[in-house]
Amino acid sequence: MSRISRVALRMIYDSRGQETVEATVETDTGHRGVAGAPSGASTGTHEVRAFPVGGVAAALQTGAKDVRPVLLGRDVDDQEGFDATLHQVDGTPDFSRIGGNTATALSIAFALARATERGESLAQSLGALRAPSSWPAIVGNSLNGGRHAIGGPDIQEFIAFAPNATPSDEIRAAIGVHRALGAALHAKYPKLALGRGDEGGWVAPIGNVEALEMLRDACASVRDSTGLSVHPGLDLAASEFYRDGKYRYADRTLDLDGQVRFVEELVDDYGLRYVEDPFDQEEFDGFARLTASVGSKALIVGDDLYTTRRSRLETGIARRSSNAVLIKVNQVGTLSDTLATVHLARSSGLATVTSHRSGEVPEGWLADLAVAFGSAALKCGLLGGERVAKLNELLRLGAATEA
Ligand code: PGA
Ligand code: ZN
Repeated sequence: MSRISRVALRMIYDSRGQETVEATVETDTGHRGVAGAPSGASTGTHEVRAFPVGGVAAALQTGAKDVRPVLLGRDVDDQEGFDATLHQVDGTPDFSRIGGNTATALSIAFALARATERGESLAQSLGALRAPSSWPAIVGNSLNGGRHAIGGPDIQEFIAFAPNATPSDEIRAAIGVHRALGAALHAKYPKLALGRGDEGGWVAPIGNVEALEMLRDACASVRDSTGLSVHPGLDLAASEFYRDGKYRYADRTLDLDGQVRFVEELVDDYGLRYVEDPFDQEEFDGFARLTASVGSKALIVGDDLYTTRRSRLETGIARRSSNAVLIKVNQVGTLSDTLATVHLARSSGLATVTSHRSGEVPEGWLADLAVAFGSAALKCGLLGGERVAKLNELLRLGAATEA
């Protein structure tokens, strides 16, 4: 049995240029795992605290003084014990003392160290089959709005949802939509300077409906030219424009009934196969109405609704709120907490979608998690080194099954 012989924490930058925490965990056999924690911008109310009061500097201080000593000497095979120790030393319900991002970086670095020691990919060492019966579909952000894009639509993400037989076909289809959408925007607005948002999707000063029309057409053109499966999807991140009981878009204000009808129409009119956070983060019943009416046509995904918390997912299952749950490790802070939610979802017949954050690190382990969790989809963006790192890792996992 090998043991942890070294633990180190340091400050690194994420893809938005914000400070975050990176952890190194080393075993006494000389194997090592290194992981950085991502950060959100449209964070859910029920997420753990990413950093303690005092930010990354305070996280590093507490990490060196209080966390590191209790991790040294731990059994490399005991992920649950490692994660439980993080909770014990933190002592709060939301990681507000040591910081959820410190916990996330340590928990993943620990899992990576164990995988390295075994000579396996992280996906394999977490129990994934060598050739899974199906690969996670790609959920690829193609056009950005909301908090991730200045001057774009108020819906946060216009998505290419690409379920195909192999990772390479999925990624080809989703990137094809991003490219087709860029070409269409440029052709329609030749004088407009196009930008890219936090997750690598295009940013253009267009409205929700125009963006959806262009996304639908881009998906159709890629389907026609490649024969691959790729369909429009949305992450509305509706909590961001929900105030005083109303959904406040730039061009309309809707009450709950209006919002249910509006999203139902979007699913039907644009062939949406993926709908994330169409309601406020406390609106379990609105979610349930939408799932009942269009859940057979589209994944209805709770992100801010659940924040990867098992207890919130229990509520959603009891109320039949959604048919899918978004999974983000740093919403709960450890791999073990994440797995508890994944297991509940699977045993209840809900799909999981393993997801990046808008502020990311240029590492690929998220793809391993998506495969190990048996997720229906990997949500990771399409352009930018920090997004492509995950796509390329999925390609590697796919290639390993062909070799
Ligand atoms: P966030 O956004 O990482 O900024 O929270 C991503 C999402 O809402 O899915
Ligand atoms: Zn979301």
